Amino acid sequence: MNHLLITGGAGFIGSNFVRYMLRKYPHLKITNLDALTYAGNLDNLKDIESDSRYRFVHGNICDEKKVAEAMEGCDAVVNFAAETHVDRSIHEGGVFVETDVRGVFVLCEEARKRNVKRFLHISTDEVYGSRLEGYFKETDMLSPSSPYSSAKAGGELLARSYFVTYKLPVLVTRSSNNFGPYQYPEKLIPLFTTNLIENKPVPVYGDGKQVRDWLYVEDQCDGLDLVLQKGEVGEIYNCGSHNEEFNINVTKAILKLLGKGDDLITYVQDRPGHDRRYAVDTDKIQKLGWKRQHNFMQGLEKTVKWYVENEAWWHAIKQKQADYKAWMEKQYGA
Ligand code: NAD
Ligand code: DAU
Repeated sequence: MNHLLITGGAGFIGSNFVRYMLRKYPHLKITNLDALTYAGNLDNLKDIESDSRYRFVHGNICDEKKVAEAMEGCDAVVNFAAETHVDRSIHEGGVFVETDVRGVFVLCEEARKRNVKRFLHISTDEVYGSRLEGYFKETDMLSPSSPYSSAKAGGELLARSYFVTYKLPVLVTRSSNNFGPYQYPEKLIPLFTTNLIENKPVPVYGDGKQVRDWLYVEDQCDGLDLVLQKGEVGEIYNCGSHNEEFNINVTKAILKLLGKGDDLITYVQDRPGHDRRYAVDTDKIQKLGWKRQHNFMQGLEKTVKWYVENEAWWHAIKQKQADYKAWMEKQYGA
């Protein structure tokens, strides 16, 4: 691969992946197509923006012309672009269907015309839904619960259909909860870390006993690169870390790292349709040669330190989004 089109490269995982790939492959060119929604932020890529191997195209993956312009000269595509936050999908689902389903269609159509060599579509473990015990395998049934996860399921099924029907070399990953630098402070770990730095309370949904499997973003980048280079086309790869934790334990670990007391925990109303537990079997990606490098506390220490040292980055973001914040206050009383 000589020239990658990365979509959604101004978001959390996308920006980490752009940086990771430029560092790892000295001759690789990258075009980043991003609509710069509320979650997209060019500050995430300040350190590499003047690298001659990098090009930014401002545009929407649902816009055929922009997609054609961005894909020009690229021999592989990695699609991160998506609406990603479950609470927002409960608030307003339409844009999730548009980007996470129709946007995938537009990308697949253009990639098919151009005969790209690889098309890596980033999906999520949420497409399986919840399970209290055991681990989901790639062959298990999909049973998504939220408008977000349902739209993601639609998008990945559509992408795989382009492999079956047109032999587009599609690969799909289903990853667990990522965390690390540059994550938008609406997700659990960055929201709670930044609230606590400001001595504000942290809203734990329901009883706080939901379980997520926490994957440090650098380990995620290793896994995605491996699937991109060595994965078998038409196949799906789970990626998870076996760092399973109750939300309340995650909360207490952040409190401890920041030297704050439990009095800042506020239990609020539960998220509608809240999945109790996510957990994926990772044998298949491990057989490709992937192994996580960070356990939960190693990743969390690095992450909390990054937010402590980069207050200007998240402070600017947290000032915005008045409408959504008002809805969240009404929904959760938080
Ligand atoms: P994010 O919300 O931080 O970033 C999404 C990026 O996509 C932003 O830069 C945004 O501007 C861009 N974007 C949104 N709509 C667009 C559109 N229509 N056209 C072009 N660009 C658009 O997301 P993230 O957390 O980095 O997630 C990236 C991908 O990984 C998503 O597909 C998500 O479903 C998947 N994923 C995320 C996690 C996680 O824990 N964060 C876990 C598994 C899978
Ligand atoms: O599993 C992968 C998915 O992980 C990705 O596909 C999604 O894009 C990503 O947003 C994430 O989804 P979650 O809903 O699991 O992440 P979130 O950070 O929103 O919530 C994590 C858990 O913490 C979940 O059980 C809800 C809970 N929570 C979250 C917030 C924001 C709280 O208790 N309070 C909060 O304020």
